[in-house]
Amino acid sequence: MRQILVAGNWKMHKLIGEARQLASELTSRLTGLNASVTVVLCPPFTALAEVADAIAGTGVFLGAQNVHWEEKGAYTGEVSPSMIKDAGCEYVIIGHSERRQYFGEIDETVNRRVRAALHAKLKPIVCVGESERQRDQGQTEAVIIEQVRKGLVDLNAEGMGHVVIAYEPVWAIGTGKNATPQQAQEVHALIRGLISNTFGESIASSLLILYGGSVKPGNAGELLAQPDIDGALVGGASLEADSFEGIVRAGVAVVSE
Ligand code: 13P
Repeated sequence: MRQILVAGNWKMHKLIGEARQLASELTSRLTGLNASVTVVLCPPFTALAEVADAIAGTGVFLGAQNVHWEEKGAYTGEVSPSMIKDAGCEYVIIGHSERRQYFGEIDETVNRRVRAALHAKLKPIVCVGESERQRDQGQTEAVIIEQVRKGLVDLNAEGMGHVVIAYEPVWAIGTGKNATPQQAQEVHALIRGLISNTFGESIASSLLILYGGSVKPGNAGELLAQPDIDGALVGGASLEADSFEGIVRAGVAVVSE
């Protein structure tokens, strides 16, 4: 049976009360979901504990949007793996293009965060993706290969078994212009091939590769129907119960086929 994972990346949205309201609304709409569809909510740090409380016992999972690689110490403004674990997280988004673009994230720091997250028994959702210029110049494949290789340096097969990869073409994020199912499938197949070469066929075939970039209820079905697209990392459409539910239901339809 196919597994699908739909994660909502709330980015820098929602005060604590708003976050609780959305999480409660979603869990009441999404209870008793097909077990092959995993739902993860990734609110900002300030709302993690509240959302954890709202989703407790519902089968919906919690994720953070970033994590530091050190366990503790004098790192003002940072949050450690055990802190987000303590707040109830099972997942953590790492290397999002917005972090790469605005906060100096590079493949080497992505790798440090991934290894620290795995050490804390968190599941990293590692983001990769090319810019519009890189795609126009025919560099998509090279960019993805480099980000995947460097981001996953020094992982063993056991660790890789807990990693989720998200392909998020930068030109599709928040633009309303999603990659076509064919464009996304091509890159997802490339990523699975890379993982197969390094970690073996069985790890590669169970790896979840999410697509992110203007996913909406109207395009989720055709994206998720692609053989190598195992879920979605949703930004804007995860901020409203109706649209996020619609995307999750598209996932349910795909696994039920
Ligand atoms: P949008 O769904 O708003 O395009 O954002 C995608 C994203 O960045 C998810 O991490």
